[in-house]
Amino acid sequence: MGAEVKKIGIGQAPFPHHHLLGIEHLSPDNIEMILSLADRYVTQNRHSPRKSDRLKGSQIVNLFFEPSTRTRLSFEMAGKRLGADVINFGAEGSSLQKGESFIDTLLTINAMRPDFVVIRSKEIDSAKTASTIFDCPVLNAGDGANEHPTQALLDALALKRHFKTLAGLKIVITGDIKHSRVARSNALLLTKMGAHVVFCAPTELLPDNCICPTKTNWQEAFQNADAIMTLRLQKERFETDLSFDMNDYFENYGLTADKLAIAKKECVVLHPGPMNHGIEIAADMADHTEKSLILKQVECGVAVRMACLDLLATAF
Ligand code: NCD
Repeated sequence: MGAEVKKIGIGQAPFPHHHLLGIEHLSPDNIEMILSLADRYVTQNRHSPRKSDRLKGSQIVNLFFEPSTRTRLSFEMAGKRLGADVINFGAEGSSLQKGESFIDTLLTINAMRPDFVVIRSKEIDSAKTASTIFDCPVLNAGDGANEHPTQALLDALALKRHFKTLAGLKIVITGDIKHSRVARSNALLLTKMGAHVVFCAPTELLPDNCICPTKTNWQEAFQNADAIMTLRLQKERFETDLSFDMNDYFENYGLTADKLAIAKKECVVLHPGPMNHGIEIAADMADHTEKSLILKQVECGVAVRMACLDLLATAF
């Protein structure tokens, strides 16, 4: 199995990008290339031994300036599964707390010659800035409310494995769209792949320039939906206190079995995590054995990050 995993990255056309900064710059072919490799990694990750030596001798630095559970851990697991060393860097306990600038921190790490950098920061375009500093590939693990490309790719993979194709699906993204890099990257990706995306949220949680049709009324939005993705209220990014009544919010936008009944019978539920039960999603929806793809998304996350690292390695 180890040898089979190693073969995956060899013999294919090189991936035409040196960095993974967002979905915006990827073509449908680039997306398809990542998804099909990731799909093979999902299968291989289900069997032991899961590790290969595809990236043996490489060092990946995980630079997380914002909290994370699944993204950081799955990048770490993806790197280690491919045989790389993974070094985790957090703002806490670093010289950033002694006043060192973000740029000086990046210049310092680049001088140590990492082979890949994974970066998450609250600043929009932080990954783009990092790509001008690092000599190695940079992967965006979330930059403010801008993009979160590997999340959109893993969501697409979970949907594609379920429905076989993304083309023609109606996908509703509901909740705090305004502050969500997940919503933006997903809308970009799913639209490029021929799906029909609708944003559903109260006006205060919709961005000024929406990249797809919007609805404030869930009854209208959910009709004929193939999939509904709910999002957390990202309060850490609110500029002003929107002071929602959480009971009203759950009543109007929280995903429940009653609301799901308006969608297609086969409609599935997604959430990028972290979830807040009783606010944007009811616990029985999150844990639903047939409807919820949430743990499948997590599984796809490791595979997608393996595929991205694998493909960017061909740009060496
Ligand atoms: C998302 C993020 O950080 O943008 N989570 C994730 O990466 N799985 C969504 C969120 O924080 O709500």
